[in-house]
Amino acid sequence: LAKIEIKLEDIPEGKNATFKWRGKPLFIKHRTPEEIQTERSVDVATLRHPEHDSERVKDPAWLVVIGVCTHLGCVPIANAGDWGGYYCPCHGSHYDSSGRIRKGPAPTNLEVPEYHFPDAGTLIVG
Ligand code: FES
Repeated sequence: LAKIEIKLEDIPEGKNATFKWRGKPLFIKHRTPEEIQTERSVDVATLRHPEHDSERVKDPAWLVVIGVCTHLGCVPIANAGDWGGYYCPCHGSHYDSSGRIRKGPAPTNLEVPEYHFPDAGTLIVG
């Protein structure tokens, strides 16, 4: 299926939900106000793959990323690692709650797919 529709009310604040989309894991994270604040205030100059949080999310409450580690393709664990975003156990890559690589061998941030919000409660990816 090319597109996937997700009802956002099913994902409580602070939780990450995993879906399957185009044969890959898709992570949807409902970020807390604290997580949003933290990610917005990161100094982009300190990042391996410099992207501001506002370039990566369309609505600050929702992070939408492909759940494939950019190192060698393992599936990271949600709400884990030193930055509380994602942790890849294969070789120890740590991602923040914006899906940005912070420590470990992965070269780039988790990929953000095409998506939009047709209404306040719905997300369509693809
Ligand atoms: Fe994730 Fe190597 S595949 S750290």
